[in-house]
Amino acid sequence: MSVQNVPVVEALNVKKTYMLGKVPVEALRGVNLRVEQGDFVSILGPSGSGKSTLLNLIGALDKPTSGTLRIDGVDIGKLNDNQLANLRIHIGFVFQFFNLIPRLNARDNVELPMSISNIGKAERKKRAIELLETVGLKERMNHKPAELSGGQQQRVAIARALANNPKFLLLDEPTGNVDSKTASDVLGLIQKLNKEQHVSIIMVTHDEKLAHQANRIVKVFDGEISADMVS
Ligand SMILES: Nc1ncnc2c1ncn2[C@@H]1O[C@H](COP(=O)(O)OP(=O)(O)OP(=O)(O)O)[C@@H](O)[C@H]1O
Ligand SMILES: [Mg+2]
Repeated sequence: MSVQNVPVVEALNVKKTYMLGKVPVEALRGVNLRVEQGDFVSILGPSGSGKSTLLNLIGALDKPTSGTLRIDGVDIGKLNDNQLANLRIHIGFVFQFFNLIPRLNARDNVELPMSISNIGKAERKKRAIELLETVGLKERMNHKPAELSGGQQQRVAIARALANNPKFLLLDEPTGNVDSKTASDVLGLIQKLNKEQHVSIIMVTHDEKLAHQANRIVKVFDGEISADMVS
């Protein structure tokens, strides 16, 4: 039996409509997208075009209103809340505003997803330190988020997103709140993870220059993909 290479993401005519009271808001109007293992894709588009909506669906944080979305071959529309939560353990998500736990230091923040997936304490600690070393923050592991710069917090968030060895990493404006030098450091790290560890990357941005660091650019406009091209 031959094993086919399953795409990490496959969206077929995906629509998402939010209800604002009684008014429907069509955030996605039929998106088709296929992301292969090892791809580095930028999703580029203006504010309100549907980028975060699409990323949240790919991250199994929400389900499409219609259409089919397969993550690693699994149709998420068919999963219950419990099954969705289990799937999310294997997806690395980096949010725009870091979302670190303020009272935990960097190492404990990185360990958190591993305790959810029942990895033993010694192993958790070892891996958290390794991950913080990967993102260049080993010497900051005892710092709490408020004791770190914006770029350092973002790198802790990336280390945390990698904790459970995700097949792919989703980043929503990962450099939206840091200066341009830090942005290029964070981007260098993302590229390194893609090249050296073959982590598939989907990165939302509205910065054209950043988007070009990916291998592929998917442009979103008004809830639809308006272009899909090699960078
Ligand atoms: N929970 C919600 N309820 C109602 N409408 C929503 C909701 N979330 C998003 N929308 C609407 O859906 C559309 C797409 O929003 P989305 O957040 O995906 O845009 P975006 O491309 O990520 O924008 P930005 O670059 O500003 O982050 C917008 O018109 C927005 O107002
Ligand atoms: Mg957004």
